[in-house]
Amino acid sequence: MDQTAHMHETFSQTIELADLPEGESRRCQFDGAAVALFRVEGCVYATQDECTHGRASLADGYLIGDEVECPLHQGMFNVRTGAVTAAPCTQALKTYAVEVRDGVIYLAPSSAKAESPTGQTPPKGDTA
Ligand code: FES
Repeated sequence: MDQTAHMHETFSQTIELADLPEGESRRCQFDGAAVALFRVEGCVYATQDECTHGRASLADGYLIGDEVECPLHQGMFNVRTGAVTAAPCTQALKTYAVEVRDGVIYLAPSSAKAESPTGQTPPKGDTA
């Protein structure tokens, strides 16, 4: 059994890393759902795009450090963990496992995280 091959099959290609500048967010589609991508200190994090409090897109929110502020009622979440950090939100965001390979961002269901250690390192040789 080749566990590595299996893991890579789980990951799906989304956007290019170059299209997600530091400190910004982008919306993409993964597994039939809208996903918000965030770039914080060189690392990429992915959460569900829709706020758990209402119909707002978090990719349209404000990224402050590793927290995103919802554009509708200013609830906040930690983009690394999905945890709520400010009211009125009460329910955590779903998060996704992220892998960056050859300048492309890949996503997998968060259950794949166990196989993909969190030691995500900023890409080398980023000449942006
Ligand atoms: S919809 Fe996001 S805080 Fe209300």
